[in-house]
Amino acid sequence: MSQNPTLLFSVDRSDARPIFEQLCDTIRRLIHNGVFNADTRLPATRTLAQELAISRSTVVTAYEQLVAEGYLQSKPGAGYRVCGLGETELPGRTKVLQDNNKSAGPPRQISRLKEQLKEPLKEQPDKLLTPSLPDMRLFPYRQWAKTIARICRTRPESMLTGSEAVGDQQLRQAIAHHVREWRGLEGSADQVIVTAGATDALAISFRILLQPGHNVGLEDPGYRPILRQVKGMGLNPVFLRVDSEGASLPGSPDSHQPEAQLEADAHPDVVVLTPSHQYPLGNTMTPQRRWEYIHWAHKHQRWIIEDDYDSEFRYIGRPIPAMAGLDQLQRTLYIGSFAKLFSNTLRLGYLIVPEPLIAPVRKILSDYSLKAGLMPQPALAEFIHSGDFYRYLRRVRKIYSERNKYLVQQLQTRFNHFGHVQDYSAGMKLVFHLNQTFNDVDIVTRTHQAGLALEALSTACYQRTDCNGLIMGFAGYTEQEIHTALDQLLSVLCSCQDIAAK
Ligand SMILES: Cc1ncc(COP(=O)(O)O)c(C=O)c1O
Repeated sequence: MSQNPTLLFSVDRSDARPIFEQLCDTIRRLIHNGVFNADTRLPATRTLAQELAISRSTVVTAYEQLVAEGYLQSKPGAGYRVCGLGETELPGRTKVLQDNNKSAGPPRQISRLKEQLKEPLKEQPDKLLTPSLPDMRLFPYRQWAKTIARICRTRPESMLTGSEAVGDQQLRQAIAHHVREWRGLEGSADQVIVTAGATDALAISFRILLQPGHNVGLEDPGYRPILRQVKGMGLNPVFLRVDSEGASLPGSPDSHQPEAQLEADAHPDVVVLTPSHQYPLGNTMTPQRRWEYIHWAHKHQRWIIEDDYDSEFRYIGRPIPAMAGLDQLQRTLYIGSFAKLFSNTLRLGYLIVPEPLIAPVRKILSDYSLKAGLMPQPALAEFIHSGDFYRYLRRVRKIYSERNKYLVQQLQTRFNHFGHVQDYSAGMKLVFHLNQTFNDVDIVTRTHQAGLALEALSTACYQRTDCNGLIMGFAGYTEQEIHTALDQLLSVLCSCQDIAAK
């Protein structure tokens, strides 16, 4: 415990504030500035009162006020000390607990909290293999609790008085730094907008770029909620068939609109792509196809929205640079999300726009109500800056990578009679392509009844009819849970095979 710090304070008799308040302000400032660290022991009340020539009760009043605010703790016989992170007590309760339990040792309230923090979180939801579900049992809640406590103590106003609609400045800087390091994307914090997840980022992008009746190119198969969003905003979907190189180009022989039929003004106004990890198939768009898209967007003055929803999770090789980086953020808008990376319940994501779109985005944000919650943003910024975020990311990447390997190996050995899996060693889910004797919707319905949450690949298709597979999540489940789920799946597939054979 740090002993007897110098408390540089002198009573200002010309100040209208009472002396105890002046003393409180000084101590708070010393804690905020880090001069008084956790565990620092404050001068004894009698000593300080003598030094300052004030009454002892004034010092006691000031100290007790700071105890009530959570800055200080008092222990019988041990005086007052600065609270450690995460151990702020509720005012009022402390006294009761101390009275009931006068023996040494931390108040029960604190030790119970510490105990709770040591316990693992509750089990994941009972539906197994839910696609793209992170494992919230791994969430670094202890470090997160400390970060929140630190913000509450040192600059609570940053959480409470709303910052700009584009988001907390420090979080935007942290995001700009993150995408530079991880995605090779050189954008400034001014180009970053904090959003309520990727879905909100898409809605904002559509609002700044499009009017009802405009065309939006969507990958086929793709993430179906985007189609609903497109239709809900009065936009027309145009489907881009995904092949081994990624989404086909508008007007290419493979697309649903061959070049000959495609007037210049019938090109989609915007295309939404998942080039790093195609949703749901999992493949990566080739560099050649990326450049073709970038040239297409420049030639026809169109826009690309890069939905980079889970690219931090790559388990072999180097992360694939973002397409928006190749384009130098000229005709590509970039979307990222903390839903997979950190927590879905946080509902935070981000949009990074080319410079000419900064003003239109700000206008849209003032015209429409703000969706991203501001309160957790300073804490998330600090979590990233402190390195806790990356420690967590490294840890879950390793675990998810092992789960991915396990699921692939199981599918290749135990399920090779029923279909095949392509291992992309990325993301949080994969596709098991079923042989034609099976119908994916039928299998999914049956596995739902058995407690699994698989999705049918064919339901992610819009116009194409050649997809038949199971989308299965691995990130959220231990090997044991994956094993249990696969046993269930195996019995469903075997019973369907028997029915087909009869
Ligand atoms: C391809 C794709 N885009 C967007 C989203 C939506 O992300 P968010 O939850 O951040 O809104 C998801 C979520 O799973 C997704 O898979």
